[in-house]
Amino acid sequence: MKIIACKDYKEMSQTAAKEIIALVKKGTPFTLGLATGSTPEGVYRELVDDFNQGQTSYSHVTSVNLDEYVGLSKSDLNSYHYYMQAKLFQYIDLPSDQQLIPDGTAQDLEAECENYEQNILKSGGVDLQILGIGHNGHIGFNEPGTSFTSRTHVVELAEKTRKANARFFPSIDQVPTKAVTMGIATIMESKRILLLVSGKSKADTIARLLNGTVEESFPASILNLHADVTVIADEEALSTINENKMKKSYSIG
Ligand code: F6R
Repeated sequence: MKIIACKDYKEMSQTAAKEIIALVKKGTPFTLGLATGSTPEGVYRELVDDFNQGQTSYSHVTSVNLDEYVGLSKSDLNSYHYYMQAKLFQYIDLPSDQQLIPDGTAQDLEAECENYEQNILKSGGVDLQILGIGHNGHIGFNEPGTSFTSRTHVVELAEKTRKANARFFPSIDQVPTKAVTMGIATIMESKRILLLVSGKSKADTIARLLNGTVEESFPASILNLHADVTVIADEEALSTINENKMKKSYSIG
């Protein structure tokens, strides 16, 4: 796992955006895996700025989102469909039929999960996946205990995750209890992964990730077994590692 240490959130966002833009600019069909939440918002702002300067077209890109809440319609302000429109898609030239996000309102959610896997395959597989990480080590909405062999599936959200996400909702009661998420095996099939981590509150989480123990009780730990993961983290997120001098065993750029 390669680590890029950044000064702050802005630098983390710029660094990640630069990597994405360089790959998208190659112009060949490209499947870009996207995340929601607070962490990638800055990256999306950078991509929009770059697009507005006439730099990069997304017409040849298929985007594949990690997850969506069950029961929220596409127009619900808290759905990840809405988030992606609001933060990125409305500003760039990514064709709407190339924007893949699980449908959390599907009548048959199992069929939707299978369909999603098929659509990822049809797109040629994810070339670059952007990930954030939950305090409990979740990636996508794969909570602790999720099988490393899991594929796109419906999950029951952990209380800790619902509490963390309650900041986006009027009250915690309105945070959905379920979501559809790419599975851990699905995520691991991405050719390249950029894991973005920002802030003091993630410092212990990232330290646990980098101690190298791979266990299902800490889903992100599987990333230690992926051949091409880059962690892009800011100073605050790396503070526990720096205190513990753990960086010796990693090449921190
Ligand atoms: C969102 C997602 C989640 C978030 C994680 C961190 O699509 O898959 O795993 O990346 O919950 O969220 P933030 O960035 O809000 O701390």
